[in-house]
Amino acid sequence: MSDFEHAPVLLKEICSMAQDKSCVVDCTVGGGGHAAAFTGMGVSVLGIDRDRDALEVARQRLGDSAELYQGTFDSPGAMEQISHFGPDFVLMDLGVSSWHLDSDERGFSFREKVRLDMRMDETAELDASTVLNSYAESDLERVFRDYGDERKARALARTVVRRRARAAFKTSDDLVGAIRATLGPRSGPPEFARLFQAVRIEVNSELFQLAESLPRLLEALQPGGILAVISYHSGEDRIVKHTFAEWASRCVCPPTIPICSCRGEALGERITRKPVTASPEECEVNPRARSAKLRGFRKRDK
Ligand SMILES: C[S@@+](CC[C@H](N)C(=O)[O-])C[C@H]1O[C@@H](n2cnc3c(N)ncnc32)[C@H](O)[C@@H]1O
Repeated sequence: MSDFEHAPVLLKEICSMAQDKSCVVDCTVGGGGHAAAFTGMGVSVLGIDRDRDALEVARQRLGDSAELYQGTFDSPGAMEQISHFGPDFVLMDLGVSSWHLDSDERGFSFREKVRLDMRMDETAELDASTVLNSYAESDLERVFRDYGDERKARALARTVVRRRARAAFKTSDDLVGAIRATLGPRSGPPEFARLFQAVRIEVNSELFQLAESLPRLLEALQPGGILAVISYHSGEDRIVKHTFAEWASRCVCPPTIPICSCRGEALGERITRKPVTASPEECEVNPRARSAKLRGFRKRDK
């Protein structure tokens, strides 16, 4: 562990989970930070990302030391690669890269006059302006409520629908204007960040893809292998927490059934009862780390 002695808490924890492993799949390779730590430990790495630009950065950083695949981690192509690779450690570091948020061209930011896009894969059809300009009011309400935890979701959806009838939503200013008009002039960056994130989650189908992929990743893991997930949104963490708890329980029959008719044994064990979070120093340097939660699950040996 000496190499990571001074590394941030989460990276240290991840490297300790991957310590005696030999085949690692990084489902969200991004700029290749974690993957570089894995290759530095001498393990084989398969890195996946849906974003071409991210993969290019990872390719430059990792060279030939890792295999790379472009696609969503739940796609049949990615799953085939993962199963074929036979990992004993799988990492998901969810959400977007910081440079996604920093680059105005990709349309994730609430800075002024940024075109509303938010697609992690630029070839995907659905973008943020399509969501805001074409979704039914009830669907917009669902997005703001379920992914943005917004109490005034219905009112905000109504504002968007009213405003788009006058002029289509094209830039960040349009969504910021709708948020301000609904939540009041005191609303600021925390509200914008939360509600822009809600639209991004919808555009990229993030929670659905996470929920779909977890059982398939468990299946692809070697016996005794570890699945580790870092989430940044309460909805993501809820899915991971409940899935790991369900896998760790011996019986998942409804309480009304008198005799157990389910699998009757745990699929493995949680290796983090409580999520691992970043240290205060780490959050100071990297404010995004504040919402990070790491959970791990070990698949049973046979
Ligand atoms: C937080 S960043 C990962 C950073 C990376 N761990 C590193 O060390 O540089 C998340 C990455 O996951 C990718 N991503 C998010 N959802 C994905 C999905 N469903 N399938 C594939 N890649 C995804 C994003 O494009 C982004 O590059």
